[in-house]
Amino acid sequence: MKRSIVFFALLLLGALVLMSSCKMDSKKNVPIAISMDSLRQVRYQHMLDYPLDSTAIPRSLNWADSTVHRVASNDWTSGFFPGNLWLIYELTGREAFKKRAMGWTAFIEREKRNGGTHDLGFMLFCSFGNGYRLTGNSAYKKTILESAKTLSTRFNSAVGSLRSWDFNADIWEFPVIVDNMMNLELLFEATRMSGDSTFHNMAVAHANTTLRNHFREDGSSYHVVVYDTLKGAVKEKVTHQGFNDDSAWARGQAWGIYGYTMSYRYTKNHAYLAQARKSADFYLHHPKLRDDGVPYWDFDDPAIPNAPRDVSAATIVASALFELYGYTGNTEYKAYAEKVLGTLKSEQYLLPSEREAPFILDHSTGNWPKKSEMDEPIVYGDYYYLEALLRSKGN
Ligand code: GLY
Repeated sequence: MKRSIVFFALLLLGALVLMSSCKMDSKKNVPIAISMDSLRQVRYQHMLDYPLDSTAIPRSLNWADSTVHRVASNDWTSGFFPGNLWLIYELTGREAFKKRAMGWTAFIEREKRNGGTHDLGFMLFCSFGNGYRLTGNSAYKKTILESAKTLSTRFNSAVGSLRSWDFNADIWEFPVIVDNMMNLELLFEATRMSGDSTFHNMAVAHANTTLRNHFREDGSSYHVVVYDTLKGAVKEKVTHQGFNDDSAWARGQAWGIYGYTMSYRYTKNHAYLAQARKSADFYLHHPKLRDDGVPYWDFDDPAIPNAPRDVSAATIVASALFELYGYTGNTEYKAYAEKVLGTLKSEQYLLPSEREAPFILDHSTGNWPKKSEMDEPIVYGDYYYLEALLRSKGN
């Protein structure tokens, strides 16, 4: 405890000395030239210090009024903040982060019986999943298995998929979004933990259905595919968060690349590996991908180069490509992931030290069509950044 106080006092002193002699960024008064590693440590400290509150879990920072947008446990992003603390614990070995991660994780437990969302993977696997992996706590395992059981109630065997959303039920009979691939990790792990193959089989069925219907010839993906529930036929392919139905929404591409890389990990199905590669190649070779590796929020926004970018898409893809590199040996994948980590070390992306908000990175775009969370720090951008950092170190 004493040692960490001394460490942070020295860190802040160093930062202050550097700040006194450096230029300021005009947009946000960002002191530049501080060591980025020190700055990242300060960001971690702000996350550790953020007051525990079961109904106010940090999700994003609204630059317009400088407020932290906080959510209850039933929000799809609720598991990321505890997940971030678990990953920082893994990166630093500091017990204080473990203790805090346990505190925030406990708030998510009530969602294990929430059958109204497909996002239980994000919510419970980022929190309890990391907690179980890092501590072996059997109570965490029990919660993971209960939530997998709840998630499995959303499976429809005529469609061969989990239902994604319940809203818009008057126009969408059975919507499935590409993002839903991410929630399969909870099911795959539940089988690994329990030996009950039901979860694994549902995840495989879902991945196969998405593989058949979500992807275009060029490897990009639609956002939403709507099915009928009698025959499981495709009714329409549309978007909810992209620029238009035929565009390549950057984070949607990221979920697809990550989703099929992760599904290959559990199944060794080469069709999944092939899709992960094809989607990664579409993304990496897209003429609109910026040289620093951070994509515009949608590859087809006609406002490019004046469109907002999406750091979260970059961090999701970076994390996925460290893993995909391991399966393919394709050095282009590793090079992209390392480039993103290099880019995100810069003062353009790391939040300034004096900003006491529980986030690390700026410039994610949440929901462009709704003009919500535009070009802001968002909790899941940080989560996949931390995961990519760990993967870059071989964890
Ligand atoms: N539905 C998750 C996302 O906004 O990417």
